[in-house]
Amino acid sequence: MSNEHGSLIKSPKQMIIMVFASFFVPLIIILLLMIYVNSGKRGENTTTTEQLIKPVAQLNFKDASAPREIQSGEQVYKAVCSSCHASGAAGAPKFGDVGAWSARLGQGYNGLLASVVKGKGAMPARGGASPADISDYELGRAVVYLSNSAGGKLSEPKAPATEAQAAK
Ligand code: HEC
Repeated sequence: MSNEHGSLIKSPKQMIIMVFASFFVPLIIILLLMIYVNSGKRGENTTTTEQLIKPVAQLNFKDASAPREIQSGEQVYKAVCSSCHASGAAGAPKFGDVGAWSARLGQGYNGLLASVVKGKGAMPARGGASPADISDYELGRAVVYLSNSAGGKLSEPKAPATEAQAAK
């Protein structure tokens, strides 16, 4: 009559099951809690699945043969020239500084453009831009924009035949 006091463990097999259960049930509960806590954290982050699976580096191919939009003088100035000419860095004549430009303007549009195309002093050729990105015509428009900010009276250069249509 040893089984009469209602013990759950009635055989060695049950004994083993009980030992395993008492060991693994808390473990599973802890695991579930960890997953729950982690999923809570992920909700706080703004990381989306899209961001998680996004490639680390992205290639941005340009179609070299695609017709390129001709940039205005202001656009070229802001993209290329302003890094020096906005602040006067490296001794560059500043945008809008009449005093700094008056002597330079004397050489006229062609002279100024030639300085930019070839480079002058601390200014690299084409202001450092590649001819694939900024054409001579676009450089010219930037020269006009920059010069006219400081009392120059240059008129917009004529678009070369190849670019004339795109410029319209
Ligand atoms: C890295 C700095 C830098 C960048 C970028 C730059 N310039 Fe200059 N620029 C200079 C400096 C410095 C001078 C003065 C050069 C000298 O007289 O020695 C100068 C001079 C000039 C002159 C007067 C040239 C002359 O003959 O007196 C023009 C015009 C000019 N820049 C236009 C531009 C245009 C247009 C761009 C953009 C496409 C540009 N620059 C980009 C630094 C820069």
